[in-house]
Amino acid sequence: MKKKLWLLVALVLVAFFGWRFVRPMNIFVVEDRFALPMKMESPEGIDSLNASYCGSCHQAIYEEWSQSMHAKAWTDPYYQTDLEFDGNQQICLNCHIPLENQQKDLVMGFRDSERFDPILKPNPNFDVTLQQEGVTCAVCHIRDGVIIGPTGSELAPHPVKVDPEMGSGVKSCQQCHLVSNDRWDVFYKIPPCGTVAEIKKGGEQIDCVGCHLPKTQRPLVEGFAARSSGKHLFQGGHHPPTVKDSLKVELVQENNKGGKLITATLTNIKAAHALPTGTPDRHLTLRMRLVDRQGKQGPEESWKMARLIMWRPFIVDLKDTRLLYNQSRSFKFEVAQKELEQYDHVEVLVTYHLLDEARRKRIGYQNKEPIFYPIFEKTIPLQK
Ligand code: HEC
Ligand code: HEC
Ligand code: HEC
Ligand code: HEC
Ligand code: HEC
Repeated sequence: MKKKLWLLVALVLVAFFGWRFVRPMNIFVVEDRFALPMKMESPEGIDSLNASYCGSCHQAIYEEWSQSMHAKAWTDPYYQTDLEFDGNQQICLNCHIPLENQQKDLVMGFRDSERFDPILKPNPNFDVTLQQEGVTCAVCHIRDGVIIGPTGSELAPHPVKVDPEMGSGVKSCQQCHLVSNDRWDVFYKIPPCGTVAEIKKGGEQIDCVGCHLPKTQRPLVEGFAARSSGKHLFQGGHHPPTVKDSLKVELVQENNKGGKLITATLTNIKAAHALPTGTPDRHLTLRMRLVDRQGKQGPEESWKMARLIMWRPFIVDLKDTRLLYNQSRSFKFEVAQKELEQYDHVEVLVTYHLLDEARRKRIGYQNKEPIFYPIFEKTIPLQK
């Protein structure tokens, strides 16, 4: 009898863990904030929700936004490949094309309590042009049939309502750049897309707008007086100069056991969140390598600054070696006495990666743009 009971327990455990290894991978908890597409009507005096329509008056902002990753949140080939690899889940759309009429189907309800399995019906008002615009103007600027803005201009031909929180972006950005981790089977220290949590951990004020929509003086519409306005470029990992500026690298060479010791200290000096932030695919690598006078490469060592997550059978944060705001990390490279005679200098290279090469291959992403780029390069002559 006892034996049978144990056998049953073992079977249940095997079935449970087996299921944990094959179940669909739901990496985040779906909150009300992004559970459903946003229903939206054009405000009075506004003929269309399209960015190009807003841009017919707000030309400079339109041009900035057009270059941003928000404008490419749907068309981005990496996103499209990943979406397909992940089985075209509806939930992805609610942040990448959040307006109801950007989506082919209407969400009528859900079959599961976790809200990953929606009941769909074709959307008669689906607008393919609007879909291509990804995170478009209306997503951030239209609420309850009016345009919301940081000051509430009285000069606009469309109704405007002041939203004082827009100036810091806490509300407008958290809708998508924060995902919670409150589910029984999830053990993240910080949520996936943990940008907001990372800023809190560093003890900083959450002011996404202050850094990502830098202020400038200009007219909002040609012919109007210049006023303070935020540049809508939303620059981050896809803009190498922004990433380069946020990293400081200090190199020190010391005597060590007849050879040398090179210490590289990396500091995040600009980003209030971790460098890098966002999806756990993004990471930094540091490589130090010996090179001789003829340019021939010798021994090298590499380090990775990344978030390491175990996905199955449970989601567990294993390690996080990214750089929080003002945080430094040092890496040591030893050059032995023998190597000092043979080699001439050390090459130091820091690289930013949008994506891991192994994952790129797995999802079959044919990248036309490089998925990594150098953010710091220097050669230091070995002191003999
Ligand atoms: C016909 C021209 C026109 C169109 C089209 C237009 N706007 Fe405006 N908008 C204006 C003018 C004019 C102002 C006031 C400029 C000023 O205060 O200097 C303004 C002001 C604003 C403001 C500032 C609010 C604040 O707090 O001061 C926002 C935000 C805004 N528009 C968003 C939009 C969006 C989003 C669209 C498209 C859905 C749009 N506008 C379409 C002309 C236009
Ligand atoms: C409706 C959802 C949504 C909202 C709201 C939103 N974002 Fe984003 N954001 C995205 C998505 C999706 C991407 C990634 C697009 C891609 O790379 O395909 C992104 C990318 C970014 C990037 C990365 C750019 C890069 O180079 O990799 C920055 C920076 C950013 N957003 C800042 C902000 C700020 C600041 C706010 C608030 C003012 C904000 N976002 C509001 C969805 C949103
Ligand atoms: C991801 C969210 C987001 C998107 C998308 C977005 N905006 Fe904004 N917008 C903001 C925030 C946040 C502010 C407040 C900036 C500040 O306080 O300086 C703002 C401010 C403005 C203003 C007021 C003046 C200024 O620059 O501060 C105008 C006008 C405006 N946006 C128009 C647009 C238009 C037109 C588009 C589309 C082409 C657009 N926005 C897309 C978040 C967004
Ligand atoms: C003090 C300035 C600062 C603040 C505040 C800030 N950022 Fe950033 N952000 C940066 C810099 C610099 C980078 C580029 C370096 C990097 O990759 O971290 C960046 C990069 C990003 C990226 C691209 C991913 C990456 O790491 O390359 C996203 C997404 C992003 N920020 C979102 C946000 C959001 C959302 C907020 C508010 C919750 C915010 N940021 C607040 C400075 C800031
Ligand atoms: C809660 C909002 C949200 C949901 C839901 C969401 N994303 Fe995103 N996604 C973002 C934001 C914000 C970014 C940009 C910041 C970052 O890199 O994490 C992003 C970035 C990405 C990127 C990186 C783009 C680049 O060029 O670096 C890919 C790929 C992506 N998402 C795919 C997906 C897929 C596939 C799903 C569905 C399984 C999904 N996303 C669901 C908000 C979301």
